[in-house]
Amino acid sequence: MLMDKEIFRGAEAVISKTDFFGLKSIKKSRKPKNYRNKILDERIRSKRFLQEIRMNHRLKLIGIRTPIIYFADEKNNEIIMEEIKGENLQKIKNSRRKKAFLRKLGNAVGLMHSNDLIHGDLTLNNVLAGKKDLYIIDLGLGFESGKLEEKSVDFLNLKKELNDKELKELINGYKTFKGYKKVLEQVKKIENRARYMNH
Ligand SMILES: Nc1ncnc2c1ncn2[C@@H]1O[C@H](COP(=O)(O)OP(=O)(O)O)[C@@H](O)[C@H]1O
Ligand SMILES: [Mg+2]
Repeated sequence: MLMDKEIFRGAEAVISKTDFFGLKSIKKSRKPKNYRNKILDERIRSKRFLQEIRMNHRLKLIGIRTPIIYFADEKNNEIIMEEIKGENLQKIKNSRRKKAFLRKLGNAVGLMHSNDLIHGDLTLNNVLAGKKDLYIIDLGLGFESGKLEEKSVDFLNLKKELNDKELKELINGYKTFKGYKKVLEQVKKIENRARYMNH
């Protein structure tokens, strides 16, 4: 085994490049958080680890790309997966390319929501753009729900990161979901609620 090379350290996980029997791969390790109670921390990390794997597969089943999981080590809370060649959507500078991917993302989120799958942490960082294909990652906070509120919060998370033109592309893609209008209405309500609370 070659040495791992750390490429990202987030609030929750460390991401490294690794070699898995000759396959260039990504390793995601959720490290213990010492400020949290040990038992509670273990429970939280283990739940997210399992949800990430479950949701990764569920998305595949409905036709959304996610990295192939090669190996999962529950004891060490490590997932070894396919390395997606590309960048996350936040890093895309070319606005035409970004808009094209936002439309694809709208499609993908619509498909998830029509299947009652909620991402739970839908941000541009958690979407990877390959050559042509879009991949959804970081599914540890994902879950299943038919609730309008959950879908709306998912959508609103993304909306916060977009300018008007970008949002339009996202919505155009999202329109493939039958319930899209209700979600957009609920998003407005949540935004108004937040505005009211801030005064
Ligand atoms: N399979 C992968 N292929 C390529 N890059 C990845 C992969 N998984 C994660 N990354 C990179 O690492 C970053 C953090 O990964 P993520 O799963 O979102 O961890 P965190 O839970 O810490 O946010 C992503 O934004 C992406 O740039
Ligand atoms: Mg992330």
